[in-house]
Amino acid sequence: MLSKEEIEKGLHTQWAGRNMICLESTDSTNVQVKHLAQRGAAHGTVVVAESQSAGRGRLGRKWESPAGSNLYFSLLLRENIVPQKASMLTLVMGLALQEAIEQVCGIETKIKWPNDIVLDGRKIAGILTEMYFKEDNSAYVIIGTGVNVKAQDFVPQLENKAAFLENTCKEPVSREALLAKILECFEGKVALFIKTMDFSLLRQSYNEVLVNCGREVRVLDPAGEYTGTAQGINEEGELLVRRPDGTVEKVYAGEVSVRGVYGYV
Ligand code: BTN
Repeated sequence: MLSKEEIEKGLHTQWAGRNMICLESTDSTNVQVKHLAQRGAAHGTVVVAESQSAGRGRLGRKWESPAGSNLYFSLLLRENIVPQKASMLTLVMGLALQEAIEQVCGIETKIKWPNDIVLDGRKIAGILTEMYFKEDNSAYVIIGTGVNVKAQDFVPQLENKAAFLENTCKEPVSREALLAKILECFEGKVALFIKTMDFSLLRQSYNEVLVNCGREVRVLDPAGEYTGTAQGINEEGELLVRRPDGTVEKVYAGEVSVRGVYGYV
C-alpha cells in the first residue's frame, strides 16, 4: 500500500501535494478531486489511490487501474487558471513526468503529443485534464495522471501497447518518491508557464523530448483525417504539422489524436 508518510518525506513543494489524500481504492481520483474541489479544497490538493474501479482515460476510454503496481493520482489547480489556456497544463504535466522519471528511475522517456509518455514506442503514462466552472464563472482544473510502474496481470490487449518502468529500470521503483518528484517538477514548470501564460519558456525542452518531431503523423481530426510531418509545438502548445502541399496545420489538443503513420508513434 502506498505510504502517505513516505510521499510527504520526499515532497519539496510549496503547494503541490501539500494537501494529500491517500486512498486504498476509489472509483477515479479525478472524480474524488472534483468532489473535494466542490467543497472548497485547496489549490494543489492531490488524491492518490492504490487502485481505481472506474479509471478514466482520454477520449472516453477506460484506464486499467489494478492495485499494487502503478501510480494513479489527480491534482487540483485553482489559481492562475485561464480557461483558454488550460489544455496547455496537460503539456506541462507531460514535461514534469518526463523529467521526474528520468531523475528517479534514470530512464529517458519521450512525449507523444499531447499527453502520452512513451518508452520504446509504448505508452508508460497518460494524463487526463478536466476543467470545471463554478457558479461565479471561475474555473478549476483537475490533472489526472496514471503511470505504469510494474506489469502485473495486465489486461492482455494492452500487452503490446503498454510499457512499465520496472521492466527497464532493473531496481524497484518507489512510487512515493516518483510522485513527490513529479509534483516538484510540475510546480517548477507551472511557475515558468504562468510567467508568460504560454509555452515560450518551456517549448524548447518540450520539443527536445517530443517523439513525434520530424516524423510522419496521421492526425485523427473529427473534421477529417490527414497526414503530414510533425514539426514540434508552438508557443500555444499546438502541434505544427506540415502537409505534403507545404501548408502547416496547427493541431489543437482538444479532441484530436495523433498517430504514427505506421503505428502508435
Ligand atoms: C490517457 O492517456 O488516456 C489518460 C489516462 C489518465 C489516467 C489517470 S489515472 C489517475 C486519474 N484518474 C482517472 O480516472 N484517470 C486519471
